Amino acid sequence: MSENRVALITGGSHRIGAETARTLHAAGMNIVIHYLSSRDAAQKLQEELNSVRENSVVLVQADLLSVKALTALVKEAHNAWDRLDVLINNASTFYRTPVNAASQDQWDDLFGTNAKAPFFLSQAAAPFLKKTEGCIINMIDIHAERPLKEHTLYCMAKASLAMMTKSLARELGPEIRVNGVAPGAIMWPNDLDDVTKQRIVSRTFLKRKGDASDIAKTILFLAEEATYITGQIISVCGGRSLHS
Ligand SMILES: NC(=O)c1ccc[n+]([C@@H]2O[C@H](COP(=O)([O-])OP(=O)(O)OC[C@H]3O[C@@H](n4cnc5c(N)ncnc54)[C@H](OP(=O)(O)O)[C@@H]3O)[C@@H](O)[C@H]2O)c1
Repeated sequence: MSENRVALITGGSHRIGAETARTLHAAGMNIVIHYLSSRDAAQKLQEELNSVRENSVVLVQADLLSVKALTALVKEAHNAWDRLDVLINNASTFYRTPVNAASQDQWDDLFGTNAKAPFFLSQAAAPFLKKTEGCIINMIDIHAERPLKEHTLYCMAKASLAMMTKSLARELGPEIRVNGVAPGAIMWPNDLDDVTKQRIVSRTFLKRKGDASDIAKTILFLAEEATYITGQIISVCGGRSLHS
């Protein structure tokens, strides 16, 4: 089924996005990797995957905070192979915004990357996805439902993305499926100390951190196998979202 299908992955040069690119590519899809500042990493990944299958990966650069750039980004992605099957809204910003210090710029950035860009990318992609009976997969977070301390703006933005997932599933069906993945602890932020990491792991039922491949395999399932699933958000968190 994956043969010749095309997936656009935002923020796809590193970490979860890069692993998703490798996994979908291994399943036979052509990949459009979007990046903002990580040109070198994106080019390296492109070379790696093109060496497995020639001309199977293209790169597109855009700042997702510029709504004008989003339509152009989707068109560029579509034009690479004259089709688009999967949009993965993966790019994100994530940082603390304690309520006494949070700024409007942080609001614009966190809502911009985590909610506004996914909406307008979905809007731009919908006509193309309709033609291929494709799907949208939104990268959410278990903290869309359970607040993470001092991350109110990020949690609010991801909660918007969760609602968008359900709402667009309703509006874009029957041709387009819209689903989400809610990771728990998969790849640590750079500034997290060991004690906090251990505390987080102890709150999973599986007593370990997840791996980017756990997310990528779930995305592949939603893209390729889950033909009767829409409007759903799958938590991939080792059970942490159920911890009291
Ligand atoms: N890591 C986890 O354990 C975890 C847990 C819960 C949820 N998630 C969600 O899973 C997804 C992937 O997580 P991650 O940790 O792999 O992501 P990440 O490394 O934090 O970010 C992915 C990419 O987003 C891009 N980005 C940020 N701001 C942008 C902008 N204004 N315009 C365009 N691109 C922008 C960056 O691209 P450049 O590098 O090219 O600038 C970055 O590499 C995210 O949606 C995240 O919220 C992750």
